[in-house]
Amino acid sequence: MEDMTGGQVRERVLAALEADVELGRGGTEWDAFGERVDRHLPELERLFAALYGSREDWVEHLAALVVECARSWQERPAELKELDARREAEPDWFQAGRTLGGVCYVDRYAENLAGLRDRIPYFRELVLTYLHLMPLFLAPEPNSDGGYAVSSYRDVNPKLGTMDELRELAAELRANGISLVVDFIFNHTSNEHEWARKAASGEPAFEDYYWIFPDRTMPDAYEQTVREIFPDDHPGTFVQQPDGRWVWCTFHTFQWDLNYSNPAVFRAMAGEMLFLANQGIEILRMDAVAFIWKQLGTACESLPEAHDLLRGFNAVCRLAAPSLLFKSEAIVHPDEVVQYIDPAECQISYNPLEMALGWEALATRDTRLLSQALERRHNLPDGTSWVNYVRSHDDIGWTFADEDAAEFGINGFDHRRFLNAFYVNRFPGSFARGVAFQDNPRTGDCRISGTTASLCGLEGGSPEAVRRVLLLHSIAMSTGGIPLIYLGDEVGQLNDYGYAQEPGHEADSRWVHRPHCPAERYEHRGDPGTPEGAIFAGLANMLAVRAQTPELAGNRLIGFHTNNRHVLGYQRAGEDRTVVVLANFADDAQPVTAATLSGFAGDAVDLLTGRAVALGDGLALAPHEFVWLAARPAGPDAAAAS
Ligand code: GLC
Ligand code: GLC
Repeated sequence: MEDMTGGQVRERVLAALEADVELGRGGTEWDAFGERVDRHLPELERLFAALYGSREDWVEHLAALVVECARSWQERPAELKELDARREAEPDWFQAGRTLGGVCYVDRYAENLAGLRDRIPYFRELVLTYLHLMPLFLAPEPNSDGGYAVSSYRDVNPKLGTMDELRELAAELRANGISLVVDFIFNHTSNEHEWARKAASGEPAFEDYYWIFPDRTMPDAYEQTVREIFPDDHPGTFVQQPDGRWVWCTFHTFQWDLNYSNPAVFRAMAGEMLFLANQGIEILRMDAVAFIWKQLGTACESLPEAHDLLRGFNAVCRLAAPSLLFKSEAIVHPDEVVQYIDPAECQISYNPLEMALGWEALATRDTRLLSQALERRHNLPDGTSWVNYVRSHDDIGWTFADEDAAEFGINGFDHRRFLNAFYVNRFPGSFARGVAFQDNPRTGDCRISGTTASLCGLEGGSPEAVRRVLLLHSIAMSTGGIPLIYLGDEVGQLNDYGYAQEPGHEADSRWVHRPHCPAERYEHRGDPGTPEGAIFAGLANMLAVRAQTPELAGNRLIGFHTNNRHVLGYQRAGEDRTVVVLANFADDAQPVTAATLSGFAGDAVDLLTGRAVALGDGLALAPHEFVWLAARPAGPDAAAAS
């Protein structure tokens, strides 16, 4: 089988499709599928050969997978096939400047799916175009890592509702211009998943779904090079089972890593993925992408095969659910983050570097690292986009590159220690109220939990808090990509220390920043005299301006040196004007001189306030003030044009 030629493999796959009587023949739908097979089979075949080509049965698996895709396509509802066609005609739909994401836990934000449906009018008020619901599948109780331990991808957690309700919600959101996003948690299942139960009871076919070893020999060998992700939960990477065997658990003891060196696992998960796509999910957040391929003697993170697997899943979508998009969750070194971003892999990606460095700049009042990152690491390939966020449901990890920091004489290790101390309020003068996450004294690693408002000083009574919250969001909204708001942050929700008493949450400080819906704060959102109202009004204004400013769409960004390290600058170029963003991260007023701005014509306008700004006088920015200046280049051409 190994030495089959490409043509023979293709024949074998087509024969398998032909032999499947249920598939029927003829009709435009079948033609459409056939065309996509022509287009995407070579890539899928290449990937399968690379991942599984050393196995006797790899072509059989490939043929079965394509048949499974055909069946799934047949079952795909007509409404979604129409969506596929619309998206195909407008492939950059997600790059428009009006995209806005929101994210929430269904139970915490709205109790259940029915409650969430009732929030649609509010989502319209915000003009959301993308709603990420945190994992809502069947999961162990009481601790499921916030749903990231999935016991069945085809069942909604009964506390939240049913799969029928999810499908209806997806349709209703779509009718309101909102794409539903859910997680595809494909690195691991819960230990209660049917596959894991069968593996635990010794069924060989399912033992091969996971990484299970009879003794410590292999675990010890792997642990030489693999990093600890949740050391508070268990040291190392493997967890011993009651029968004495050891199972690979990158995250919690109840999250068993899947074994993708087994093509049956790829096929099974592709099936779960297509099932979700056919419920009307439009974007999958690909959870923990860095960890999906393991190889002895490596860190088992971001290996080339991890990319092949993602490309493989992507090719499966192109066959059977063509409008589905992937969002990468790679919270790793910035060189690695971008490797996942590609139209054929993950079209969109969290931007963990911009996120972390926003916080870094707030603490240091120094924008050099953030500015360097924007200049050097921001622009992405066509057909892809960042998801820019101020914070997520997870901790803030300081994932900047040590090499980048070293250029400013900053030692990465020491700097992270400073940032951690600052954000848990153990640094003199800190305004932040954060909580340490996975503090590992052995390695010095630590990350930060806390809501945006609490980390910005609202909880501690800092008079600059609201302006800091707005400043960070202004960066997420003007650097290009899809801004993603953690719902509740738009009204300045504070830390919730109640997690320490919640069964299953007490040992995970991330729950401090996953509060229940702050109903009272929402009630005051119309009153700009309250902090929540001021934050809401500020964000609403930014969103409205952004929607009318085509220069802010897409990803392309050009640096701008402000000659003042407290003031961040960058440019978003348009056809006949440029939006120059200036943002003061200091607690006092900061100048940008006329000479610094002399490349632009004197008559700029701050789009956020409508105020005319005479650049020839230079600018003084108030503490944490930011401006989005519509400016034209200086010089004879510009003068002639005006
Ligand atoms: C992702 C999730 C995180 C979870 C982990 C394991 O990183 O964002 O919340 O703990 O995956 O699934
Ligand atoms: C992610 C990240 C890790 C993060 C964790 C959840 O997969 O890689 O750094 O802390 O999940 O918090």
